[in-house]
Parts: sequence; C-alpha cells; structure tokens
Amino acid sequence: MTSLDTFREEFIHYLHEKVTSKEPRNLYEPITYILELGGKRLRPVLTLVTCELFNTPFQQALDASLAIELFHNFSLIHDDIMDNAPLRRGKVTVHEKWDINTGILSGDAMLILAYQLFENYDPITFQQLAKVFSKTAIEVCEGQQYDVDFEEREDVTIEEYLHMINYKTAVLVGAAMTIGAIVARATKISQENIFEFGRNLGMAFQLQDDYLDVFGDPKLFGKQVGGDIISNKKTYLYLTAHKNASTEAQKELEHLFSIQPENPEDKIEAINRIFESSGAKLKTQAEIKKYTDKAILFLENIEITAEGKKQLTDFAKLLIYRTI
Ligand code: IPE
Ligand code: IPE
Ligand code: MG
Ligand code: MG
Ligand code: MG
Repeated sequence: MTSLDTFREEFIHYLHEKVTSKEPRNLYEPITYILELGGKRLRPVLTLVTCELFNTPFQQALDASLAIELFHNFSLIHDDIMDNAPLRRGKVTVHEKWDINTGILSGDAMLILAYQLFENYDPITFQQLAKVFSKTAIEVCEGQQYDVDFEEREDVTIEEYLHMINYKTAVLVGAAMTIGAIVARATKISQENIFEFGRNLGMAFQLQDDYLDVFGDPKLFGKQVGGDIISNKKTYLYLTAHKNASTEAQKELEHLFSIQPENPEDKIEAINRIFESSGAKLKTQAEIKKYTDKAILFLENIEITAEGKKQLTDFAKLLIYRTI
C-alpha cells in the first residue's frame, strides 16, 4: 500500500512536469506562483489514494488529481479577491502581488485547464468525470455566494451555515474521492459512500478552517489570523457564540460584527473572548469530531481492504489535529 506522503510527492512531481509558465507571462506566472506555494495537497492525495484503494494504479488518476488541485487553486485565487485576503500559504496573495484583473483571468484559465485534463481519459470516463466536476463546481459557486451574502445578514442560522460550507468546501473533498473511484471503475455504491466519507470530512475540514482562522498560530497558519472576524463572516463559532451568549454578550457580538474598524486588533480580541466564554470554542471542536466520526462510518459500506479503511480512518483522525 502506498503511503500518503508518497502520493503527495508523486503528485508534486507530476504537477511540476505538467504546469509550466509560458507567454503571456502575466497569465501563466500567477498560476505557477500559487501552485508552487504548496499547500497540503489534501484533495489530489485523496483522489490518488481512492484510485489505488479500488485496485487501480494511482498513475491513472494523476490527471484527474491535477484537475482537482487546479480547480481548488483557482477557487483560492478568486476567494482571496472576494475575502480581500492579504496572505495565502504564508505568502502574498495573487491579487496583491499582481492585481485583481490578473487574479480573475489566471483563475479562469486554471478552471479551463482543469477541464482540459479530463480529455486524457476515454469518452465514457471523460463524461463521468466531467459530470461530477461540473455539478461540484456550480455548488462551490453557490456556497461562495452564500458565504459573501451572509457577511451582510444578521439572521443566518446554523443550518444555513452548514448548507453553505457543504457547498463551498465539503462537496469538493467528496468529489476528489469520487473521481478517483470513477477512474478506478468502482461500483456506484462505492462511489456514493466514498463521496459521503469525503464530504463529511470536508465539513469537519471547513469547521476546523474557521476555528484556525481565530485560534490558529499566525506563524503556522499561513493566512491572516482573524481574517474571518475582520470580514464579519458568520462562522459556526460566531453563530454558536451568539446562540449561547448572555443577552449582553449577544448585543456586544452584534455590535462588533457590524463595525469595520481601521485597526481591528481590539475587535478580534473582544470576539475571541466571547467565543471562549460562550463555550463556542469547545462546541466547534466537538462538531469537528462529530463530522469526522460520521465520515468514518461511511467506510463500512465500501468494498476496499481493511488495511485501506484503516489508512483513510487514520488520515481523517490526523486532520483533526492539523495546525495549517
Ligand atoms: C483552503 O483549503 C480553503 C478551504 C476550503 C478551507 P486548504 O486548507 O486545503 O488549502 P491548502 O491547499 O492546503 O493551502
Ligand atoms: C474557502 O473558504 C472556500 C473556497 C475557496 C471555495 P475560506 O474563505 O474560509 O477559505 P480560506 O480560509 O480563505 O482558505
Ligand atoms: Mg477566504
Ligand atoms: Mg471565503
Ligand atoms: Mg477560512
């Protein structure tokens, strides 16, 4: 059985071989820039491991895994524009290094390059991959729009938040695994269950991302800690704190989430305190664990070896303790 580290190395090697800069430089350099900033490579590794777990050489899934990573990085360039984010993976974001127009067009090109990679598969596989990919991509757009809409809304519910993160993040993690299963010609039932494993892991992953955005170590996290608070994002932390807080703390939260101070340090600190004192910090950790456990349950109905299930279970558990 190939280790996840080996999958990551093989993927990076393939990425370097396939994605190179050419003219016009201002279109392609941002693409190689963001892809070479690294990142955890979570999604492509999941595509490769899934393919192998269904008894197919992972090399057959390299193009599909590259498509997923291209799509993910395209969404990050556009997300950083939408979130006005200065930092990505410890470096300056594409739209800050170049400009917003460059970020838009390089992002668009990455989306197209991602689709193009599916042309390397036979027509039946191509159609199945494109179908999953298109469905997922439009859901990511819907999730992203809800995320931005929620910044301005004061009546967002936890249910709406969960729906939003399911679309903006979780379905792509699920799809990364589904496409690995498609390349391996796994049964429909296996495809559905591996999707649910990935989707629930993706829910835990986004909850954890929101948690790290507030409580992460700025030296490790690679993004601006407090960025979600500055943008008044209605995260699980915020919604839970609001639900559980005293009337007084609720009012304070609402006030803090309606202002955009020039120096946000005091706002961030005050909100941190409410997130802790209201119990929202602990509740978020419990919710991350809940989605991870739920993900693992879906492995039961998948026709892979016990060893393979253990590899995925260990990986899911490890993700709970991530710091980046
Ligand atoms: C960031 O994804 C966007 C989210 C969905 C939270 P990752 O945390 O996987 O980003 P990289 O690729 O490792 O940088
Ligand atoms: C990311 O959500 C979702 C997508 C990029 C589609 P976030 O806005 O929380 O991601 P980060 O924190 O900037 O990576
Ligand atoms: Mg963002
Ligand atoms: Mg965002
Ligand atoms: Mg985030």
